[in-house]
Formats: sequence, C-alpha cells, structure tokens
Amino acid sequence: MADLKAIILQMSIEDKLCQLTQCCGEVFIGDGSVATGPKARSGLNDEMLNKIGSVLNFANCDDAIKVQKEHMENDPNKIPMVFMMDVIHGFRTIYPIPLAMGCSFDTELMKECCQMASREAVAGGIHATFGPMVDYSRDARWGRVMESCGEDVLLNSRMGAAQVEGFQGEDLKDKKSIAACVKHFAGYGGAEAGLDYTGVELSEHTLREFYLPAYKACIDAGVSLLMPSFNVLNGVPSTANKWLMQDILKKEWDYKGVVISDWAAMSELVDHGVAKDENEAARLAFANEVDIEMCVTAIYVNHIGKMIEEGVFTEEQLDRMVLRVLELKEKLGLFEDPYRGASADAEKREFLSEKNREIARRAAEESAVLLKNDGVLPLSKNIKKIALIGPFADNNAIKGFWSCNGRDEETVTIKQGIEKLVPNAEITVVKGCTNDFGDKDTSGFKAAIKAAKKSDIVVLCLGEKQDQSGEGNSRTTLNLPGVQSELAKEIAKVNKNTVAVTFSGRPLTLGELHESVPAILHIWFPGTEGGNAIANLLFGDANPCGKIAMTFPKNVGQCPIYYNHRSTGRMKDPELDGQHIMYMTNYIDSGNLPQYSFGHGLSYSNFVYEDLKLSSDSLTADGEIKVSVTVHNDSDVAGKEVVMLYMRDLVASTARPIQQLLDFKKVCFEAGERKNVEFTVREPQLRFYNPENKHVSEPGEFLISTGYADHLIHTKKFILE
Ligand code: GLC
Repeated sequence: MADLKAIILQMSIEDKLCQLTQCCGEVFIGDGSVATGPKARSGLNDEMLNKIGSVLNFANCDDAIKVQKEHMENDPNKIPMVFMMDVIHGFRTIYPIPLAMGCSFDTELMKECCQMASREAVAGGIHATFGPMVDYSRDARWGRVMESCGEDVLLNSRMGAAQVEGFQGEDLKDKKSIAACVKHFAGYGGAEAGLDYTGVELSEHTLREFYLPAYKACIDAGVSLLMPSFNVLNGVPSTANKWLMQDILKKEWDYKGVVISDWAAMSELVDHGVAKDENEAARLAFANEVDIEMCVTAIYVNHIGKMIEEGVFTEEQLDRMVLRVLELKEKLGLFEDPYRGASADAEKREFLSEKNREIARRAAEESAVLLKNDGVLPLSKNIKKIALIGPFADNNAIKGFWSCNGRDEETVTIKQGIEKLVPNAEITVVKGCTNDFGDKDTSGFKAAIKAAKKSDIVVLCLGEKQDQSGEGNSRTTLNLPGVQSELAKEIAKVNKNTVAVTFSGRPLTLGELHESVPAILHIWFPGTEGGNAIANLLFGDANPCGKIAMTFPKNVGQCPIYYNHRSTGRMKDPELDGQHIMYMTNYIDSGNLPQYSFGHGLSYSNFVYEDLKLSSDSLTADGEIKVSVTVHNDSDVAGKEVVMLYMRDLVASTARPIQQLLDFKKVCFEAGERKNVEFTVREPQLRFYNPENKHVSEPGEFLISTGYADHLIHTKKFILE
C-alpha cells in the first residue's frame, strides 16, 4: 500500500497541479500534436509533462506501456499515470449501443458486456472508462440518447449500476476491472430542443424526480469517478455549479470519488460567459473541486499556483484533490503495477475472442426490437433467393458512435451473416439509395425493384448512419434519411415478402415504413457481431425479446414525447387519439400517441397475460404486497419475455405520472409454458418528491398494472395506509 500522504508531502505545488491534469495520448506519442492542436497549445513544457497525472486515449497497449515506462523514469515523484478512454459499449469487440442494451432490460447481460469490455481494455492498457452515461433524456432529436439506456428512471438507474458493477468488478485491483465514471452530471439530456450543448432549465422537482436518480444509483454502486456536464443547468454550467456539485453531490450525497471535467469544459466557462478569462474559469472549477482537468490548455497548471500563493485557495484543498486522484490509482493497484496487465499477448488473447464475439452477438440479439410482424418472420432457411436492399445491405459501419477501438473491417455485415447462416441461398445485394440527408436520388430504385421481383424474400436494410447520432449530432427530423422510405414503398409493391431491418442511434419516425412492410426489426447499432445476430433473428435461431426503452414518435413535432408523463386538466380519451377536440390536450394535425410506446416489442412466441393478483389490497409503511402476474407462452416457440409492472399514484401533493415502471423481470419460457411471475411491492417504491422536494410517499389509492406503456392491462387498485 503506497503512503499517499507521504507522496503528497514531497510534491511541489506545480507537481500537484500537473497531477490534476489530463492530456491526450497523442501528446506523448508521435510528433506531439494533439486533436486540439500542437503540444505547445497545451501550455505544458516537458518538465510538466513528466508529472502529468492522467492520459486520455491510447490506440494500443504498446503506446500505453511505452509512455508509462518513460513516465516512471522521468517523474520525480514516481506516480504512475492513469489511462482513461471512452469504453462506452466495448473496447475492441463492440456490443450494441447503450440505448439498445436498455431495450434488453437485462442487467446481467449488461454487466457481462461491461466485464468483457474491461478485460479487453485492461489488455489494451486502459485503466478507467468514461462510462456509464446515464443522462436521462426524453428528446430523440438529441444525438446522445444513444449513450443512455432510455427514458425510464428505474431502467436507466438499474442499467447504470449494472455497468458500474460490470466495469469495476468486486475489486479494482483485479486486472480484469477498470474504474467507471458516471456522466454527465447533471441534466445534459434536457438539452433544449434536443440541440447538443444547449442550456438546460429543469425545476429542482423535475431534476430530483427524473434526471438525478440514475447518477445516484451509480454512486451507490460505487462508481469511482464522476464527470460534470458541459451544459448550463438553470443558468450555471455544471462545472461551476455549486448547488449541483457541492450541495447535492458532496453534501447531500456524500460523494467521495474523483470528479473529472469534460473535454475543455473548464475553459468553456469563458464561452458560456460565466468567466471573463481562463484565470477566472480555473478559479470557478477549482472552487467547485473538479479534481482533474481533461485538458486542452492546462488552466490549472497555468493559473491555480498563483491563486494559492495569493491565498485564494489553500494548499490543503489542493492536497485533498490530489489525494482523491492518488487514492484512485491506489485502488487500481497502479503503484504496485503501473502496467496493470497490459500486454500484446493479453491483447491477442482477449481481442475479438470467440467468447467475446459470442457475448456481443447475444447482446445484439437480446437488444433488437421486433416492432412489427404480420407473420412473415421468422424466415425459412429453405428460401432460395434473397434480395438485400438498402444502404446497410452489405455495410460494416454498424458499430455505432463511441465505438472505441472497434474496427469496421472486423464487423459482420448483414450479407455476411446471412451467407453464413443460409449458405445455399442466392443473395442479391442492391444498395438502391443512400442514407445521406437530403438525397433525393431514386436512380437506384430500378435495379432494386428488379432484384426484388426475382427474389423469394426481400430484406430492406435501412436506417441512419452511425455518425448521424452521438455527440454533437442532433437532428431536426427523425425520418429515415434520404429516400429510404420511398424505396421501401416501391419494393413492397413488387414483393409482399419484404421485411425491414432498421438501424439507428435514436428513435425514428417509422410510420411510413410501418404502412409499407409487414415486418420491422429494429437493430439499433448492434456492434461487431451485428450481421450474425440479425441473421439469427431473421431466421428464428434467436427469438426477438427486446422492448423499446425510448418512445418512438409518430412525428418529430411530438418531441419531447415520453411515456411517464403527467395527466393534464384536459386529457383526451386515448381511444379518440387523432380526432381533434377543441380545448382538450391534443394537436390539430396529429394524434398524441406515439408510433411505438415504451415497453413495446414483439416475439416469435405468443405471450398471453392471463392475470395479475395482489396478496392484499392495502400496504402499510413497513409491509409488502406480493404481486403475481400469470403469463402463458401460447406458442410452440421458446422465448424470453420482459414482464413489467406499472403503477399510478392517483392523488398526491404533486401531480404524478399517469403510468410509471415499478419493476420488471426478464423471464424465460419454454413452448407452451405458463408461469406466475412474482414481484414484491413496498412503500419506498411509491415515494416521490413533494412540493417541498422531500422524498416521501403519501397514503392513498394506487393502481398497479402489467402490459406496457399506453397498453396497461389487468389493472388493480391498492391502498397505501
Ligand atoms: C466528450 C464527451 C465525454 C467524453 C469526453 C472524452 O466531449 O462529452 O462524454 O467522455 O469528451 O472523450
């Protein structure tokens, strides 16, 4: 065990400030130029670089080992650097984007994927990831919805905690684990109009009720780092927001881990107009105890030393911040082994291993959502001629944004997956059109129609590109880019056996496609094993079980649209949706209901929900109600079903959502099997934030149902006494 306080005692103020500074890996590799400009721009001289505390991004373990070795020779304090990277949904073997993983409703699978990513990251020389991202978001226009696990508080919280446990394991000294970093604290998903980096205005009530719980769940799961968000939250950027970072994070939640800024977020306080210059920006961030500057211009090194000399800050505070960083390194075992298991052999053993590919394939199968199926799926393996039509027919760019060191050339395309599964089929590939925004070119339709006419089956492979979602990639529309919907319509006219596989990093408006084709399988961005998973799902070797974790709107004008909304004073009967009624809550040019509701997802099995029973119709503060949902797999196909419980608090001191996910379980069923799926409901699950922002439950009547959002069934009532 390193004597961390003794180490700090020997460090100068500059040493300590360098320890709180993170540089890009490129600063140490090659000509020293970085993504944000030459090394010189970082404002760090060689002596300072010898004392840097952490590094962002290395391409391979050789670079990481080389840089750490040189560092340990040159750092006068012999403090190993910690290497961090965005291992968001895989390191080299890429599994589905987190929004897809949310649709699996499978926390164990989520954990398994993160454990796989950690093993590969350790081999590749990475010690910490900037994940999980748990930014609650209700607006599909925002490109970063792909990084979270959707619009439900419980699902996002459970999936966030599962990622922390998966990445970090039982002991961070275990060289199969990496440190996790929950981000972006807080409210980043509330970006105005879904436009990235815009301001966020959220009441304390709404923050506490919807936007904060998932961060807290990750902190309760033991996350090692936290990253404040770029955005202004209620007038103050998170990086400088004392209410958020001190009152909530440190005082109320007692968070004791490391806080690391987002990329350049400190210097961007100047751009936000809350700091007149970088000196002021440094002061605001340091006052908020943002421990590490993910740096572009090293403003801590350049400005904080003088402030300590002038007594603006104490060296004791600086030591406290440095100690948190050293404690992270100690937890990671870096003082004992600065290389922490990184090696070319480990890379060869881990990267893209059959085991890792199997995990990624299974995750892609479990997170796909069968949105529509008029019986045309699953396909028969005896078919002779298949046409694959659309921009994704033979396209390996299906890993999604934030795919770390994943490589397109290692990714299985739909064509490759189907060739492998049904080798005797004659496959014709026609792109037909692009998925470029605004492309009106239909010249490719002719060849596509010709191929469709001569084939038994057509698989339309459509969607938005993987770089049309993700950071900085907000949209003002949610349709299939280009003329893909038109292509689908023309193809479906000439071959009724046409199914669509759709790719996206966000919910899309698929109403036109829904009207054109008899089946739609939404695959999100499935990752390295995408093509194999899609083939297995299309031909029935895998049975779709995903449920959408984020509402699919009918049109972008409905955004933000989400299932757990409140009533209004003039709610219209959903049965009348689409009929405009004056002075009621409705649009004059669209219905209120989405295309596909939260929790929607079909299967090749046929799950019949026969009943919901309560052990009692009243609940005391220290009691519990046993809930039993009887589900029958009335089919000859084994499958998995996400059984969900929803609640409604009928009357409370703040208006409560008309429906709210209370619990969920993913259950396996054999063909024909009937099961009673048991849940336990206790008073803490019924708590909410009252007008005084106290987390309370209030006596009264509650409804409890199963089914899925907007399609609740077997509703029963109980009383909280
Ligand atoms: C980016 C993202 C953040 C990421 C960081 C490092 O701008 O906002 O999520 O972890 O920079 O890549």
